[in-house]
Order: sequence, then structure tokens, then C-alpha cells
Amino acid sequence: MKILVINGPNLNMLGLREPALYGARNFEALQQFIRSSASELGIEVELYQSNHEGNIVDTIQAAYGCFDGILINPAAYTHTSVAILDALKAVALPTVEVHLTDIATREQFRQFSYVSLYAQRTICGLGFDGYKKGLEYLKEMIGDM
Ligand code: DQA
Repeated sequence: MKILVINGPNLNMLGLREPALYGARNFEALQQFIRSSASELGIEVELYQSNHEGNIVDTIQAAYGCFDGILINPAAYTHTSVAILDALKAVALPTVEVHLTDIATREQFRQFSYVSLYAQRTICGLGFDGYKKGLEYLKEMIGDM
């Protein structure tokens, strides 16, 4: 089983970025956490991060035929990007959305997610652990297909 993990804008700044919200661990630590969670679950992962909406759209399109599912933290594009939503709908792969923080209890503008209109599950507020939960859920979902 091969899962594409996409992290959106500013997640590469973890550690430095608003640590009271996002924690003190950096992006490298997140990537290591995802890799070790995937290997525990027997899942192959490819990790991708970009600060650019179009690059994320291109990467989702290129996943078609190459991956069994997508785990995505679209970051700020969660709340703005119809293009990312449309790309996910176009490739129609099993998709889980993850957020480090609980977007439902933050500013009003973070409370709507375009990606949730397609993602089969959204996991919020669990920090790094949310990525592991997302991989577990994808494994369950794809295993049942
Ligand atoms: C985020 C929440 C978004 O609102 C924010 O723009 C991010 C990170 C999260 O993981 O909690 O960049 O997706």
C-alpha cells in the first residue's frame, strides 16, 4: 500500500512557527514521525511539502495511478482552495485530511474546509498523532476496498 502525504504552506516552518499552537518540534521531526508510523503500519509513504497551491495541484494529479491514497494537511489552503478540492475529486483516491490544531475551535475563517467536502475523514487537534491516525484510517479503508 502506497500513500502520498502532502503538507501545505508554512508547515516547513514547524518548530519556529507559533510554537504555542503548533508545538516545538520541527518539520524534520514530523517527517520522521510519519515515516516511522508508516513503517510500523507496513505502509509505504512518499512525503511532499510545498508552499505553492499549483504545485500541490500538480502533485495530486500525478498521484493518479501511482498511489493508493492521500493523507493531506492543506494548511492555509484548506480554507481557500477550490483548486485543491477539484484535484482531489478528479483523481478520486481515498483521502484523509489532517490538521495539527483543532480548526473548529480557532478563528472563524479556519472553520470552513474545502478539502472536507471530499475527504472521507478529517482529523484535527491531535498534533503529530493525527498523521498516524490518518494512516491507520487509510489502511483500514483501502484494505476494505
Ligand atoms: C493547519 C491549520 C490551518 O488553519 C493553518 O493555516 C495551518 C495549519 C493545522 O495543521 O492545524 O497552516 O492546517
